[in-house]
Amino acid sequence: MNPTQIIILGGTGDLSQRKLLPALLDLYVREMLPTDFHIVGLARSKRTDQEYQSFVQETISKHDGEHNHPSELITSFCEHVSYVSGSFDDANTYDQLNDSLAAYDNQMSTSSNRLFYLAVPPNYYEQIFTDLKQSNAATEGEGSWTHILVEKPFGHNLETAQKLDAQLSKLYREDQIFRIDHYLAKEAVQNILSFRFANTLLRAAWNKDSIESVHIQMSETIDVGERAGFYEGLGALRDVGQNHLLQLVALVAMRQPEAFATEAIRYERCRALAALKPIDTTALAASVARAQYEGYKADDTIPHDSETETYFELKVEVDLPEWDGVPFYIQAGKALDKAYVAIQIKFKDVATGMFETKSCHTTGNEVTLTISPEQTIAIVLDAKSPGLGFQLETRELAFECNKGTDEIDNSYEKVLYDAIAGDQMLFTSTEEVLAAWNFITPILESWHTLPLHTYAKGSEGPEHTIIPNT
Ligand code: BG6
Repeated sequence: MNPTQIIILGGTGDLSQRKLLPALLDLYVREMLPTDFHIVGLARSKRTDQEYQSFVQETISKHDGEHNHPSELITSFCEHVSYVSGSFDDANTYDQLNDSLAAYDNQMSTSSNRLFYLAVPPNYYEQIFTDLKQSNAATEGEGSWTHILVEKPFGHNLETAQKLDAQLSKLYREDQIFRIDHYLAKEAVQNILSFRFANTLLRAAWNKDSIESVHIQMSETIDVGERAGFYEGLGALRDVGQNHLLQLVALVAMRQPEAFATEAIRYERCRALAALKPIDTTALAASVARAQYEGYKADDTIPHDSETETYFELKVEVDLPEWDGVPFYIQAGKALDKAYVAIQIKFKDVATGMFETKSCHTTGNEVTLTISPEQTIAIVLDAKSPGLGFQLETRELAFECNKGTDEIDNSYEKVLYDAIAGDQMLFTSTEEVLAAWNFITPILESWHTLPLHTYAKGSEGPEHTIIPNT
């Protein structure tokens, strides 16, 4: 592979500190980065290369400490790192960046591959896309590639996403654009495909005849904290609903792809998203709820009349014959009592014949894919309880899906590794992003007709809920 330059726009921000720099170091230690590579951090503050290298070193000891990588490896990793200071809305920044990238090419006597990671607020996207192109920083040299990685949210609604997409597609080819949804890169989430399609046991039962309902829950204990400025006006539905959670719906509901191949898989994910039944906005309260935690507006940067939701619930249906009548309940919130992300598939109770007696009855199977805090898959079955009589009790078969010799606990490692390899399977296509916005936008436009419930921080969430008790 040609020498590769990884440019992090927003190189001192929260995402870079917590996820990207630790992930790059971990890839380096695994010898999974290209042999010749150069990392450039770009941010507003003034720093020399050495100062940025010290910053990276500190960040890593803070956020990647548990890996305990030998200090010589961390030092040699940091020798590949340099820094450009500049503001994203100043065209000169991109010229300076281009000079730094060209200097590395000269040193290596070849054109490098370039991976631009936009770890910046989405309002800068349009300008960055254009200025990177105009400054030549993103121009592909002979035999080399340029990939642009964009964090969600991609657009603010259907219209702005379409506009951004139109601009981006004028400047770059689709195979250069990597729209990140880091949930797709999590082990438990990647496992949905193998679990569903590699196991005869489940394939036959994965439809409306056997499944009663699907529950997708994303509970976080953290509040918006220092991200208040970013979160205000965005809200939970845009932050995690339009992307991570709808992608989970797509993976649960999609049809078997023709092949284990990027286009086939993206095509089926997209088909499932496009089949989401539009929510009746004249009866929104039957399928949607929203809430805000108490104290959200205490932050100085948040208007006292803010209606930004920190919690939402949706009842969704997938308009494909095999899912007819199966409700998908989605629920997500911040500042809740527990950190838990999971997909629960509830199967219909056989509840007939021999086990339909008072003392001996079935309860219905469940499959739970837990994404956080552990990544596990568990199946609950009915079994005979040991003893002289014959009664049924539930038993669980479970395994951890991220443990092993090649264990990856930061899904950004996979994101960066695949983006360097040019594999877009775990990145969302433009059609997927637009299908998701197409479903979400009418809800956002009618949000104001719904009451905004409140809930105490550290509680289970609002009292009013559309999700049936289970
Ligand atoms: C991000 C959201 O995409 O995902 C955050 O912007 C959220 O608000 C985060 O906290 C959750 O990701 P993870 O990997 O910690 O579950």
